[in-house]
Amino acid sequence: MKNFINISDHSSNDLRAIIEEAKKRKLQRKGLSKSAPDLDKPFDGKSMAMIFEKPSTRTRMSFDIAVKQLGGSSIILNPEGIHYGKGDETLKDTAKVLSEYVDIVMLRTSSHKNLEEFGKYLDIPIINGLSDIGHPCQILSDILTYEESNGLITGKTVSWLGDGNNNMSNSLIEAAGKFNFNLKIGCPKKYSPSKKILVWAKKNKINLTVTPKPAEAIIGSDCVMTDKWVSMNDKVNKKSKKKTLKPFQVNKKLMLKAHSDAIFMHCLPVGRGEEVTDEVIDGKQSVVWRQALNRVHAQKSIINWCMN
Ligand code: CP
Ligand code: NVA
Repeated sequence: MKNFINISDHSSNDLRAIIEEAKKRKLQRKGLSKSAPDLDKPFDGKSMAMIFEKPSTRTRMSFDIAVKQLGGSSIILNPEGIHYGKGDETLKDTAKVLSEYVDIVMLRTSSHKNLEEFGKYLDIPIINGLSDIGHPCQILSDILTYEESNGLITGKTVSWLGDGNNNMSNSLIEAAGKFNFNLKIGCPKKYSPSKKILVWAKKNKINLTVTPKPAEAIIGSDCVMTDKWVSMNDKVNKKSKKKTLKPFQVNKKLMLKAHSDAIFMHCLPVGRGEEVTDEVIDGKQSVVWRQALNRVHAQKSIINWCMN
């Protein structure tokens, strides 16, 4: 069974193949309307079930369009409206039933354990559409976006400013190892990457710098990334976390320290005026809208990879 749960689960070759297929398919469908299927319709007659335990705009829309472009169909299940992990049906039984109806499942969950458990019981592949631990689909699509703008990411320097211990930063650290880029994380000590991911990074010889100095994290960067200071379901004192993260705001002054052709990325949704200023996110270096679009293209490739 080919699940897509963590970037670290997969070989660099497989991940590279996913990116290259995404580039090729995106190019081949130039001129087609947004939801028209690709000529080969590799997902024809097949369907995906999507379960969202948390809100989503991009993941919901981009998976739906991805499936349409692959020639298949999708159904969105609201956990409140189905017997999902509730007292009346076990997660295992729900998984068995879904395996009879659809060909692949995408799950957004507050608990990474749910993903792994659900994946074990399913007879079909499962894709991580964001968990508390990782957001692998977003990071693969970000690599696609980077490479469309500035060429191969291998050997380049990516900077991550802000919360260094969330789903996005975890998947980015894993990607740094698989795609061989340098990663500089600028964050307060309190919001540094978890011990677990730091141990993984060390073991896998990732070129990773973690610094409490925002300027040090951004200097000489080819790509500057940030994320909401308070993630969905992040049970923290929001006011105090935002205050601590304030010096890590990506603003024009800080952006000037990156290379002049550096791009700015944000997975969205954005806290304007918090982790990034309007001037940067709406400025010339920002690629955030194409980044959102590329979720479609990267995810088509992830679905194909899981199905083959
Ligand atoms: N970037 C992202 O996953 O956005 P949504 O929460 O809207 O899906
Ligand atoms: N870290 C953010 C990412 C949103 C796409 C969150 O989990 O809310």
